[in-house]
Amino acid sequence: MKIAVLVSGSGTNLQTLIDQLHEDETSGIEIAVVISDRHKAYALTRAKSAGIPTQIVRTQDFESRVAYDEAISKHIENHSVELIVLAGFMKLFQPPFVRRYRNRIINVHPSLLPAFPGATPVVDTLAYGVKVAGVTVHFVDEDIDTGPIIAQTVVPVFDTDDEESLHKRIQVEEHKLYPKMIKCYAQGKLKVEGRKVSIIT
Ligand code: GAR
Repeated sequence: MKIAVLVSGSGTNLQTLIDQLHEDETSGIEIAVVISDRHKAYALTRAKSAGIPTQIVRTQDFESRVAYDEAISKHIENHSVELIVLAGFMKLFQPPFVRRYRNRIINVHPSLLPAFPGATPVVDTLAYGVKVAGVTVHFVDEDIDTGPIIAQTVVPVFDTDDEESLHKRIQVEEHKLYPKMIKCYAQGKLKVEGRKVSIIT
């Protein structure tokens, strides 16, 4: 199965997908293209090192967000991609794009959704004073971080944590959970009924 990975930043999640899926022939998963909205995303260097085609699609180069989404769609279609994987991609899609790829866009978010959606989840988690944090893998719908939840892992929050230490602890779990859930998708093991996703074993 061909996937596209969309990135904005450092790409540690992309790296685990390269290592655990793309470079493991038994996974049956190929990263056909990596798309970034930023020239300087280090994730692009990681993709190039693995010989994966890259595309840069920047919002400022388009008249509207719908036109921006269409440009991304073209790359998705050109590469015959079946699943769109967001890995630290910090742009939102417009409803037509989400409708077109319903339950074919997957995201990883560093909080236990529905708590702490949005752009600063780890900071918000610490500021609220909760005692557990975590990672959520979910399908993308029309709103921000509200789509059907596929899987979650809980991590503890310590009194001594700052944003960096907590985010690191969460990312260790992201790097295990995300490839695992993408594999489940590829193997047809995710059953979606409305908001409820179950994993067929
Ligand atoms: C990850 O922790 C991911 O969960 C988060 O951005 C980070 C990207 O790291 N995504 C979001 O906050 C999406 N709302 P990476 O570039 O090293 O994979």
